[in-house]
Amino acid sequence: MAKTIHVGTLISGGGTNLQAIIDACTAGSIDARILFTGSDTPKVKGLERAERSGIDTFVVDYAKIIRSCKQGIEDSDLPPDFDLAKILEKQQLVTPDTSTDTSGSASGGSLSGASMDLTFFLKSRAIAEKILLDQILAYDIDLLVLAGFMRVLTPYFIDRINTISGQYKVMNIHPALLPSFPGTDGYGDTFRYGCKVGGCTVHFVDYGEDTGPIIGQRSFDIEENDTLEDVKRKGLEREWELYPACIQKFAESIG
Ligand code: GAR
Repeated sequence: MAKTIHVGTLISGGGTNLQAIIDACTAGSIDARILFTGSDTPKVKGLERAERSGIDTFVVDYAKIIRSCKQGIEDSDLPPDFDLAKILEKQQLVTPDTSTDTSGSASGGSLSGASMDLTFFLKSRAIAEKILLDQILAYDIDLLVLAGFMRVLTPYFIDRINTISGQYKVMNIHPALLPSFPGTDGYGDTFRYGCKVGGCTVHFVDYGEDTGPIIGQRSFDIEENDTLEDVKRKGLEREWELYPACIQKFAESIG
């Protein structure tokens, strides 16, 4: 038994991983308690799952914030402690020579391809992340768990959660065996490549995209007749075991 850790969760959709973690907490099979579930998208099923379990919820509507940023960003819109030069120095999401497009249209969890304006990206995300931080920092959490949260987090956000140097506090689950197939469609990329083995990875979040230290992985065979749907199903079933196990590993490491 470890000390019960306090966990915050962020989601974007259906929340089946969130459900697996809620169930593990309720069953007492992990030493964790979820204090809140935040979503970047209103009205998703994951929010209902949290509410049903008596967990606090909130929404930071990224799509709306980004739409409004596209009308123009004034310096006064930015968080007072936002320092673009420092964040540009730290970020490992995009290499500077690929960040030439000024549309700023990429808005999902992936910067792969990097056809966007990095400055717009970092500024608009910091505006959203400040609102997210105001919600999150109202709670005293040991760990922030991204359970299908489809937004890239920038150094502005990460530095305000990881306040002790060298100690990671943000965990993510990715639908592929990293370092293969980072980005938004891990199972799709695995399937289309023709891999014979697929899998999922839980890792800590650092300044890159799906690059942080790996905590755990699960794999499965991809059979000749498997469809993409089969791959997703097999993958999710592994995720539901893996995520609670990795949270428990974290609890034991600090307890
Ligand atoms: C999961 O497959 C998870 O690995 C993936 O989103 C799905 C969320 O499902 N996450 C990412 O792709 C993160 N880049 P869920 O909402 O049912 O837990």
